[in-house]
Amino acid sequence: MFRIEDYRKSADYIKSIIGEFTPDILLILGSGLGFIGDLVENPVFVDYGSIPNFKKSTAPGHAGRFVFGRIRGKNVAVMQGRMHYYEGYSMEEVAYALRTVRLLGAGKLIVTNAAGSVRPDWKIGDIMLISDHMRFFADSPLRGENIEEFGPRFFDMSSAYTPKLRELAKEKAESLGIPLREGVYMYFAGPQFETPAEIRAASILGADAIGMSTVPEVTAAVQCGMEILGLSLLTNMAAGISTTVLSGEEVIAEGQKASGYFSKLVLECLEEM
Ligand code: HPA
Repeated sequence: MFRIEDYRKSADYIKSIIGEFTPDILLILGSGLGFIGDLVENPVFVDYGSIPNFKKSTAPGHAGRFVFGRIRGKNVAVMQGRMHYYEGYSMEEVAYALRTVRLLGAGKLIVTNAAGSVRPDWKIGDIMLISDHMRFFADSPLRGENIEEFGPRFFDMSSAYTPKLRELAKEKAESLGIPLREGVYMYFAGPQFETPAEIRAASILGADAIGMSTVPEVTAAVQCGMEILGLSLLTNMAAGISTTVLSGEEVIAEGQKASGYFSKLVLECLEEM
């Protein structure tokens, strides 16, 4: 279990590199979407591997570093790559970076991911605005002694994905002419893709998209009072709906294909957050 001192040590190390710079918005970029980090002006890079207590991101398509700087007039911390439970980390470790950036001052979060579509009427390449999420089959990242500095032991999750940011995303998508789905993201721990039976169950439970990330970070972000915008790129049809063999390569390739319009939407939202 980490203590507040551990998070402070990590934050202090980062401060020793970025100096007076204070990030306002944290961007966590999913598989194949890390290129948004390359748009940061006057970037300062901090490799996860160099930060005390940090875990490396080993997933393909994840560079494993922070980029601090400005995009569209905003002070940002970009995570090029994130930690996943399937890499062998605890849920607490998966949420560690987010809490560290919260200590650096960020009060807002844009989180993106690649996800499988549970909805047969949706298409590969569609973007889904996350309205809510489900996590039944994994621990909470906040299990264990509560760290009061990050928020209360028990807290409300009824509007985790900040309503006014969801409205903003819808307006921006409309003005850019980018179709935007909206729905519920369901967390599965992976690393294997789900079985068709699991996807049928998820569908009955009310899921619209499936993925292996985002929920741990969002849970920790809600506790520490961050405003949250979540966007999924649907890189494949989920198991049983898909007629092809699911693969990590497909996820990354579809992420790259969508990079133009996906980044446009993220940046337009960022500008007004
Ligand atoms: N399932 C889980 N995670 C994913 C998927 C999927 O179908 N696609 C991209 N990430």
